[in-house]
Amino acid sequence: MDEMDFENRIVAPEFTTQDAEIDGSLRPRTLSEYIGQEKVKDNLRIYIQAARARGESLDHVLFYGPPGLGKTTLAGIVAHEMGVNLRVTSGPAIERSGDLVAILTTLSEGDVLFIDEIHRLSRAVEEALYPAMEDFSVDMILGKGPATRSYHIDLPHFTLIGATTRSGQLTAPLRDRFGVLMRLELYTPEELAQIVRRSAEILNIPIDRNGALEIASRSRGTPRIANRLLKRVRDIAQIEHDGAIDEDIARAALQRFEIDELGLDDFDRRMLSTIIQTYGGGPVGLDTLAAALGEESVTIEDVYEPYLMQIGFLTRTNRGRCVTHAAYAHLGLPVPEANPQYTLPNS
Ligand code: ADE
Repeated sequence: MDEMDFENRIVAPEFTTQDAEIDGSLRPRTLSEYIGQEKVKDNLRIYIQAARARGESLDHVLFYGPPGLGKTTLAGIVAHEMGVNLRVTSGPAIERSGDLVAILTTLSEGDVLFIDEIHRLSRAVEEALYPAMEDFSVDMILGKGPATRSYHIDLPHFTLIGATTRSGQLTAPLRDRFGVLMRLELYTPEELAQIVRRSAEILNIPIDRNGALEIASRSRGTPRIANRLLKRVRDIAQIEHDGAIDEDIARAALQRFEIDELGLDDFDRRMLSTIIQTYGGGPVGLDTLAAALGEESVTIEDVYEPYLMQIGFLTRTNRGRCVTHAAYAHLGLPVPEANPQYTLPNS
């Protein structure tokens, strides 16, 4: 699958420009509007209340987990609930430490700075961030040779919210400087159905309970995908029916997009069948698998694997990836003779 295909993949959890137009209106603004991630919400509610009562800024927070689960949305909610401004940037966008200083010095007291893909900060920028997080100050060296001057700049007490799909790639010094670490989980179909119904109401799309559940259960645990599928199904409901979405219309539309009952698309099925047909069901190393599929290892690991593991189709062992019997059954392939070491107890 080349990059273009990936961009167009309807179940890709990555943010695309097509998501931007709807995201503004669909994004919940308060914790009470936010559906799912109950543990994260409960904790955030307490931390926010406590910080507000003390009149202090919130501790730095790190959100980690698969893409499309609402890390940016939560940062916006934290800023809103704290009554402060939100500044959004990303690891790759901050090229030099001067860029970071330029952002930090324009923050106001208590503001939230959101850095997406924080694992992609350069070493120099990351090191400039340490004293900013810890002491709310930065040291800047300007000029060259004898004209060199060092400046110590005090910063407002801000809250850094970092987001990453790869917490394992964060350096220990950076991870240690976050007071709060929160892991976002894939959503259940019931939670996603609630999100679909909420979005449908905002977008004025008539949808019934089962129509929402049908879209939800094919959205691989990811609200961004659920909202995208809702829009695509709406198009079909509007052109070929009276505009309302029910279970049958949703199912037919999703079938047409080649997204199966579990939300797997062509690439997921190709990945599973490659492990089965080329590597005897596994174990196969991640890099070997990536080369066979023509996809990057990190993409396979961050984007495809979390959902396949959640539904029990794939396991990670220390010798590589293995497909479970449930996946054979789903693909309609004969389940192999028992190889107990690599199968789930109940598959
Ligand atoms: N839209 C996207 N994610 C959402 C969530 N978690 N709750 C409500 N609406 C959403």
